[in-house]
Amino acid sequence: MKICVLPGDGIGVEIMAQAVRVLKALDLKCELENALLGGCAVDATGSPFPEVTQKLAKEADAVLLGAVGGPKWDVLPREQRPERGLLGIRKHLGLFANLRPAVLYPELANASTLKPEVVAGLDIMIVRELTGDIYFGQPRGIEMRDVDGSKQRVGFNTMIYSETEIRRIGRVAFDAARRRNKKLCSVDKMNVLETTQLWRDVMIELSADYPDVELSHLLVDNAAMQLVRNPKQFDVMVTGNMFGDILSDEASMLTGSIGMLPSASLDENNKGMYEPCHGSAPDIAGKNLANPLATILSVAMMLRYTFALEERAQQIESAVKKVLAQGYRTGDIYEPGTTRVGTKEMGDAVLAAL
Ligand code: IPM
Ligand code: MG
Repeated sequence: MKICVLPGDGIGVEIMAQAVRVLKALDLKCELENALLGGCAVDATGSPFPEVTQKLAKEADAVLLGAVGGPKWDVLPREQRPERGLLGIRKHLGLFANLRPAVLYPELANASTLKPEVVAGLDIMIVRELTGDIYFGQPRGIEMRDVDGSKQRVGFNTMIYSETEIRRIGRVAFDAARRRNKKLCSVDKMNVLETTQLWRDVMIELSADYPDVELSHLLVDNAAMQLVRNPKQFDVMVTGNMFGDILSDEASMLTGSIGMLPSASLDENNKGMYEPCHGSAPDIAGKNLANPLATILSVAMMLRYTFALEERAQQIESAVKKVLAQGYRTGDIYEPGTTRVGTKEMGDAVLAAL
């Protein structure tokens, strides 16, 4: 098991330290190699995704990522921004399938801003396409053009999907639904956008191979509304890169705690990159305040999807449930009556529970 570890920026470093402790405690035969991605890589090499990192990530069986970005690098030209490193590694490794579960832990029932009865027991999975769509479509840019007789700046991007791209993410989503409650909702904007008309057509064609999975469709605006109206109607949702970016943030907040949610980004062969859904939180970086649980749960996803070690994955997940039941909380999930702990102490608690 070769794992490339990319702590990244901001709180990435602290949360990754705890996740690595948990991984090491499992005593699996794994080789860990650290490398730079994001702002730290820009500072050291001038590039957010340097060649050394490209090589290590390619050679590894899986990549563990903390978080990238921060205000310090927002002023740089687009090619040098940390986000470019993240998009670069997704594309470089062909990680087209992004799995973002939104699970409400019973112990955190009051963390959500929604009424408890709306979210109690919530367990949905968003499957987001990650290497296509308007994120990567060409042409793109900002340029001077003649508009109604006046020269002005025009910004443009291209929303594009081939049927092969749609089919392969569709299969991942149908397979995921098959392992869960056998309901798949595909999200598009077919009333306006041709790209997503094709998306819907291909999903319908694919459904012939999955008679046991119930396929439904929603337009993205309605899907956003339904997610807060009655999120428990969903099991698996599948959508493109742009809509998935937005809907997965929305879904994460249903659980009240983006600090709890892991994610997996997989290629065709289940090689994957695993990272928390949250960002680098520069405001609390280096203060031992960040919640390491999403990164620790990302290790569990890695063991499940890339290494097929389901029992080991569940071992980590049970340990996390146990520390929550014991009342340990970092600031983001703290409520009166629980025990407030820091990043490292949360890691200690998970290790003890393991
Ligand atoms: C995410 C993030 C990224 C994205 C950014 C940081 C490029 O928002 O992983 O959802 O838009 O994909
Ligand atoms: Mg996002």
